Amino acid sequence: MSKSSKKDAKPKGAKKEKASSKAPATSHAADPVFTPSKEFSSKARISSLKQYKALHKESIEKPSTFWGREAKELVWRKPWKKVLDWKAPFAEWFQGGKLNVAENCVDRHAEGPRKNKAAIIWEGEPGDKRVITFGQLAKDVARFANVLEANGVKAKDRVLIYMPMVPEAAVAMLACARIGAVHSVVFGGFASEAIVDRLEDSGATAIVTADGGWRRGKIVPLKPAVDEALAKYDKVKTVIVLKRTGNETAMTEGRDVWWHDESAKVSSKHVAKAFDSEHPLFILYTSGSTGKPKGILHTSGGYLVGTYATCKYVFDMRDEDVYWCTADVGWITGHSYIVYGPLANGVTQVMYEGAPNHPDFGRFWQMIEEYGVTIFYTAPTAIRAFIKAGDHFPEKHDLSSLRLLGSVGEPINPEAWMWYYKKIGGSRCPIVDTWWQTETGAIMITPLPGATPCKPGTATLPFFGVDAAILDESGKECKANEDGRLVIRKPWPSMTRTIYNDKARYKKTYWSDYPGFYTAGDGARRDKDGNFWIIGRLDDVLNVSGHRLGTAEIESALVAHAAVAESAVIGRPDDLKGQAVVAFVTLKEGFESTEELRGKLRNHVGTVIGAIAKPDDIHFTPALPKTRSGKIMRRLLKELVTTGDVSGNTTTLEDHNVIANLRASLAR
Ligand code: PRX
Repeated sequence: MSKSSKKDAKPKGAKKEKASSKAPATSHAADPVFTPSKEFSSKARISSLKQYKALHKESIEKPSTFWGREAKELVWRKPWKKVLDWKAPFAEWFQGGKLNVAENCVDRHAEGPRKNKAAIIWEGEPGDKRVITFGQLAKDVARFANVLEANGVKAKDRVLIYMPMVPEAAVAMLACARIGAVHSVVFGGFASEAIVDRLEDSGATAIVTADGGWRRGKIVPLKPAVDEALAKYDKVKTVIVLKRTGNETAMTEGRDVWWHDESAKVSSKHVAKAFDSEHPLFILYTSGSTGKPKGILHTSGGYLVGTYATCKYVFDMRDEDVYWCTADVGWITGHSYIVYGPLANGVTQVMYEGAPNHPDFGRFWQMIEEYGVTIFYTAPTAIRAFIKAGDHFPEKHDLSSLRLLGSVGEPINPEAWMWYYKKIGGSRCPIVDTWWQTETGAIMITPLPGATPCKPGTATLPFFGVDAAILDESGKECKANEDGRLVIRKPWPSMTRTIYNDKARYKKTYWSDYPGFYTAGDGARRDKDGNFWIIGRLDDVLNVSGHRLGTAEIESALVAHAAVAESAVIGRPDDLKGQAVVAFVTLKEGFESTEELRGKLRNHVGTVIGAIAKPDDIHFTPALPKTRSGKIMRRLLKELVTTGDVSGNTTTLEDHNVIANLRASLAR
């Protein structure tokens, strides 16, 4: 295990450290700059800005050369004929090539010198531990592939996975990949309605779940939500249930089977077929500004190449590293940076089941010390919670094994960046602030740790092959420090191929604002050094603790309650969560705006979507501000909540009394 030296890394050129701002990311001439240390750079794959720029140029000008070289590091059963076939906005990468994704993530390591190397060091919340070697993981995946096939799952069938953070979640995903089935993982914190929506949209015929998982010292049952969902959807033939917590679990005869019973019936040998590079790998649902969550489809070859290459360059992964990404496999970060990318690189990783504050806020630091974690990847919302909990938690632990830190999910405020850098990284570890999305599949804008000078709050520069720009409404490129919309001007290997079963929505959502360019939905600006500063979503999508939630979804959950006539949901800045959910609700005749009803509505959203979507504030109001054509003016509500007043343009407002009433009720 490599321990990097503790000395080094003064912020080079660090002008005054201006770290206390809680304001959203913004660039200033006096921002401190943290240049990678010689110690780090000399060992890194990309060790200077010059080298980055040369490779980035090649990757943009000759994508086939750059990506062809990266792809050759994976195992292909049949070579591709063409690296990229681009019929905008539909891309095919490594056309004609065939591979097996699971074989690349597991078997090729298990068959070589990494056979007895730890692939996953897992810790359950109650403290139970398991170390799974690549050799063992290969057997587990092969065995579960046999279980799926024995239960009638075939290539291209959709399998819904609803699991706690246990190694079997990764095993189930990889087993699907191995047989060419398409997994759709649903975050374990989502409720049964969310499962129904995803079952219906994907047409899944099998589910892999567990009796429950551990969270903050309690068992969170999972199977009852599956049962509830299946009362409304009848196409699922098999439910495979892992026994994790041992809580009493109802099993439906003829449909539900236990993971361990099925595994005992099959062998751990499985012959893996090769699939087309464009064979669908998974569908992951994510929130948009309208309607129900969209099924983001990712395919095999390009996605694997993208996640593999970003792990290699952004996390500078080495055979001796111990890597830990604290995300849940239910989100894209878990897919790309727990399952596919790290395993394709053959790295040892830590996986943890439970809450970061169980039994206290020292849990992560204790685990970093215990396992000698060298690369740690987490979210700003977690960092802010750690800051609040107090420095004494990390200070109790030896964190000197760490050599690189990562951040993902939302803009990291400079205060959180500095704390992370000093208290966790010991002022010696570079921080990679990685901007990307479910749709992009892999990291898009990020520092390369041995090359890129970092400023707290900016995700810095585009990754290889990423042609990012900031445009104004007319499509003109913005000048330095001018706010605009973030777009990507060229296809990249891990890009989503479509919204499942809805090519028209895919085209309209991502490729129609500026034809030929991908619109990310984020606002951003670039400073004079070319660094990208992400401001946040431009659409009606909230980012609550790094999780994407559509205001439309929460509104429709509220309106589904018998007491609610109408609702409008907005986000308000929150010190810990990034954004908090604020709901304005008008009640139907006969219902009273009581504290009790407020509590009921919060819980109702919790049962329809999941606990993460519960509104933090609910304001009852006799009417919502609308335009004359009846559109709710969320912009005014946002302004009211953040500033207490409305100063913007209200000429289109239908009834000005509404604002006066709201202002008065918010002031109370
Ligand atoms: O607004 C951006 C924010 O998260 C959105 C994507 O959310 P999701 O698809 O759930 O994926 C999250 C994990 C990749 C983006 O549109 N976001 C993500 N990373 C960053 C970020 N905002 C600023 N800085 C980041 N590093």
